[in-house]
Amino acid sequence: MKDHLMNRTTLGGLAGILFWFVCVGCSENGTNAGESSVPAPLAQITGETELPAEFKEGETKFNAFCSPCHGAQGKGTNQGPPLVHKIYEPNHHADMAFQRAAAQGVKSHHWKFGNMPKIEGVTPDDVTQIIGYIRWLQRQAGIF
Ligand code: HEC
Repeated sequence: MKDHLMNRTTLGGLAGILFWFVCVGCSENGTNAGESSVPAPLAQITGETELPAEFKEGETKFNAFCSPCHGAQGKGTNQGPPLVHKIYEPNHHADMAFQRAAAQGVKSHHWKFGNMPKIEGVTPDDVTQIIGYIRWLQRQAGIF
């Protein structure tokens, strides 16, 4: 009997929290109504726009190894394409493509910037952190 009561209370609480999330999600979506039917990423649902701490190291490494060509926040430069771009979302360029690019370089095929050289001094673990940061940027941009 007591257990029952506990469960109901817990469930009620959970439903309340879920309801809150859904509502916040709705009002966020309302601000860019009609732009896309893709659900807003969690970071936006909570009103978060600052880079979460877990991606800070990835950002530092991206700025050291990748931004000279791919630009601050992956926006691109005249040396390389933007990575915050729909062709680099996970379904088109999975994380493996990023690892391969850093380890082996890339033969120019999508753009006219020339080849990407392999990046010296960056480890696969560094690239994993960099990917986390890029995916966050892509989600912020509403790319996926
Ligand atoms: C010296 C300039 C330069 C640097 C530094 C650089 N890139 Fe690139 N990168 C390029 C260019 C140019 C291309 C476009 C090649 C093409 O035409 O498709 C590219 C393409 C890519 C692609 C797409 C690969 C594919 O399969 O199409 C990925 C992913 C990528 N870069 C990731 C990175 C990451 C991660 C770093 C940092 C570790 C980095 N790049 C550093 C120049 C650079």
